[in-house]
Amino acid sequence: MQDSPRSRELSGVAVWLNRLIGDRLPEQVQDQAACTWLFSGVFWMLIAMSIGMIEAIKLIYPNFLGGVDVLAFGRLRPAHVNTVLFGWLTMAMVGGSLYMIPRLARRHLYLGELALLAAWAYNGITATSIITLALGMTKGKEYEEWIIPLNIGVLICLDIVAACLIATLAERQEEQLYVSSWYLILAYISFNVVYITGNLPSYFGAEDASVNWFYAHNYLGMWLTSGSVATLYYVLPKQLNKEMYAHWLALWGFWLFAAFYIWNGGHHLVYGPVPMVIPMLGIIFALGMTLPVGATIINWTGTFWGEWHQLWRNIPLRFTALGALNYFLTSYEGSLEAIEEINVNQHFGDFTITHAHLGFVGFTTAAAIALIYHVVEIGLNRKMSPFLTSAHWWLFFIGLIIYIVPLQIAGFVEGAAWARGLPFSQVLQSRAPYYWMRAFSGIPLVGGQLLFAWNLIWAFQFPAISKPEPIEEWTPKPIEEAPGGSK
Ligand code: HEM
Ligand code: HEM
Repeated sequence: MQDSPRSRELSGVAVWLNRLIGDRLPEQVQDQAACTWLFSGVFWMLIAMSIGMIEAIKLIYPNFLGGVDVLAFGRLRPAHVNTVLFGWLTMAMVGGSLYMIPRLARRHLYLGELALLAAWAYNGITATSIITLALGMTKGKEYEEWIIPLNIGVLICLDIVAACLIATLAERQEEQLYVSSWYLILAYISFNVVYITGNLPSYFGAEDASVNWFYAHNYLGMWLTSGSVATLYYVLPKQLNKEMYAHWLALWGFWLFAAFYIWNGGHHLVYGPVPMVIPMLGIIFALGMTLPVGATIINWTGTFWGEWHQLWRNIPLRFTALGALNYFLTSYEGSLEAIEEINVNQHFGDFTITHAHLGFVGFTTAAAIALIYHVVEIGLNRKMSPFLTSAHWWLFFIGLIIYIVPLQIAGFVEGAAWARGLPFSQVLQSRAPYYWMRAFSGIPLVGGQLLFAWNLIWAFQFPAISKPEPIEEWTPKPIEEAPGGSK
């Protein structure tokens, strides 16, 4: 096949990949890398959500797809959880950072081809993880079920990307750092610390539980939450085409977030068999999290102020607003759940499962979707179908409500039953209708994401409407530039 003019701008692996995919990816290697991470993430999201739906049905009909080891609930659950977190959200976050950092730094991505190669290696790791988990190969600890060789692969891939991003930032043309860059730097540094600590096989008993929750909490918080806050700080001003409301609030929010979140792991061990100081630290800092989250939410609301009408016509902005709202709801709910008197009733029930999905579907997934729409429509100037975009929004929104509301009620019912000492069999019966609703929510949720995937494929069947958004173009001012520290 002859090289097209576009592929001649690329070199090495990128040319080979471009030929393989059919000359459809964006021109710049850095955007190719970003899109490969982002769209691979969407693929894994579809797989993982479908597994979640099967799990949800199994919780109503335990014999559904019974008799097959590979499809046992105990194997599907870690496959669902790890594929959504590592396959979907981590890939989306890495893709997002590859898109955002060069634009924030006003410099082309350093060694973009390496980041592209890392994306394909990471896809191989995720595919292998589903097979190994299905075969029952697991470390057996929540959020760190993947076996050690896969952990090493994850670390290498993410560090390759981190090196490309840090080199890009080091040689940036934009002197100041915008707040999204701060959150992303924090995310990549903490990922290394917590991922290595958490996956070392050197702890036992209660010590192991403490390290497990230090890791799991901070993987969820310092990595995925940091990355999603960075995403919302990026897309919100871009979509509204205005400056951030108060840059000093962004700074306060960032430093309090960095100082407080890392100590929160202990709130997963309230009443656990660990020294009291660990849960107490977790509870105090969980309450402390109301400050950085509050600062960020005030900042986002201030930015939105006077622009609410844009929600009627701008669907990607609706995903951004939904993500921001759910960041607030999940975090304040989490601070409440950490309090001993509330945790004692809610810990073993569906309150926590609801909290997990409100956070990871309502906040981080919505933020990643908002960014993908932004990258494709604004960044790469591709036309997406308005009908499919609108259908995606409504299915996602309705599916989320059908998942969250009934399961939250189930959590309260279970908590009340536990407090009154009712027999477990009675609790099981009373929660059945809510479990039905959860399983049903999978239809709009998975259906909506299928439409989203189709819309993305459709958008790349045609050439870009015009040149992609130039790297040099960036509207919101970096934090230090704000006159007097506010708007
Ligand atoms: C920032 C404030 C937050 C606080 C204080 C907080 C607090 C908590 C608490 C107390 C628990 C329950 C522990 C238990 O009894 O088992 C929990 C669980 C959980 N939280 Fe949060 N949370 C916060 C934000 C978030 C966000 C933004 C997300 C997602 C993006 C999230 C994801 C989760 C998940 C997945 C679990 C379940 C962990 C498990 O498997 O047991 N949290 N959180
Ligand atoms: C991007 C979308 C999703 C994300 C990020 C996600 C994330 C998670 C996480 C983090 C957990 C572990 C919660 C904990 O241990 O506290 C979990 C468990 C679960 N999820 Fe999802 N999930 C998603 C979509 C879905 C969907 C669409 C369904 C089904 C309709 C579903 C059904 C389940 C079930 C049944 C469990 C196990 C609950 C249990 O053990 O009681 N999830 N999911």
